[in-house]
Amino acid sequence: MTEILTLNNGVTMPALGLGVFQSAPAETVDAVDAALRAGYRHIDTAAAYRNERQVGEGIRRSGVPRDEVFIETKVWISQYGYDETLHAFDIATAKMGVEQIDLYILHQPAPWLFDKTLEAYRALETLLADGRVRSIGVSNFTGEHLDRLMQDRTVVPAVNQIELHPYFAQHENEAADAALGIVTQAWSPIGGITFYPGFNQAGNKNPLSDPVLTGIGEAHGKSAAQVMLRWHLQQGRSAIPKSVNPGRIAENFAVFDFELTAAELAAIDALDLGVRSGPDPDAVRPDSAIFAIDDE
Ligand SMILES: NC(=O)c1ccc[n+]([C@@H]2O[C@H](COP(=O)([O-])OP(=O)(O)OC[C@H]3O[C@@H](n4cnc5c(N)ncnc54)[C@H](OP(=O)(O)O)[C@@H]3O)[C@@H](O)[C@H]2O)c1
Repeated sequence: MTEILTLNNGVTMPALGLGVFQSAPAETVDAVDAALRAGYRHIDTAAAYRNERQVGEGIRRSGVPRDEVFIETKVWISQYGYDETLHAFDIATAKMGVEQIDLYILHQPAPWLFDKTLEAYRALETLLADGRVRSIGVSNFTGEHLDRLMQDRTVVPAVNQIELHPYFAQHENEAADAALGIVTQAWSPIGGITFYPGFNQAGNKNPLSDPVLTGIGEAHGKSAAQVMLRWHLQQGRSAIPKSVNPGRIAENFAVFDFELTAAELAAIDALDLGVRSGPDPDAVRPDSAIFAIDDE
């Protein structure tokens, strides 16, 4: 049993999904299979994760019918442009072995290539109109990026996927999404970005060992990860925790049998440090962000 969110075009999406960023290809097949067996019905991948093929394989191996799984994937910056993004869709669907994508999003704005970002989004609108994708969206868009997008394009994104965990709660970004009817989806929902090697230049601590979160967890017989996921769900967000460990995959899905109190939600809100651990979407530079996506 999972909670279902209705997107702004009427399409429904399971609020909780499995993320596969940094899941090695061989691990991804097993992780997706384990997640679907544990009850997940939503997988979030990306061309840039280089494991779309294994996501498709994991879905087929699980035996869960394709139309019961909500597949979300992302166009990478090097694939931006109208024709390029249409081509990216063909590549992604071929890799996953599916005909349709449930949610297709731009991985991040490219501030130095915003015209190409807009052209990529125009291609998503075409794919949506043609029924090749069921919904479209963006990732790492600030309120300002959304304004620039909506000055040029017509379809309001269904989802904006952004860094969001108790140490970086992004209230302003979430309010900008809500004002447009966009579902905010939390990446690093349990704070993965705070302990991934090479990230977290801000030096934020790891929320998994935060005494407030572990303390609330103890009161409910739950872990800090489960408390964070519940915090997202009770506030209407989607969350896509990543794990390649079957025990933790199941743990992260066991969040529908308890309820945080208003006081507990407020205590978690009070942990916000207001500092991102991941890259600033406006500061990502072309040389660090442009790499090619293989067609094979
Ligand atoms: N759009 C973007 O720019 C962007 C950026 C980053 C991430 N994402 C998406 O968001 C997803 C999740 O974000 P994330 O991977 O950065 O971080 P996350 O889901 O917050 O954390 C994942 C990390 O926590 C560990 N973990 C998972 N469950 C746990 C548990 N119950 N207890 C303790 N540790 C646990 C995982 O290790 P094990 O695998 O060993 O369990 C992994 O190291 C990604 O997979 C990706 O789909 C998107």
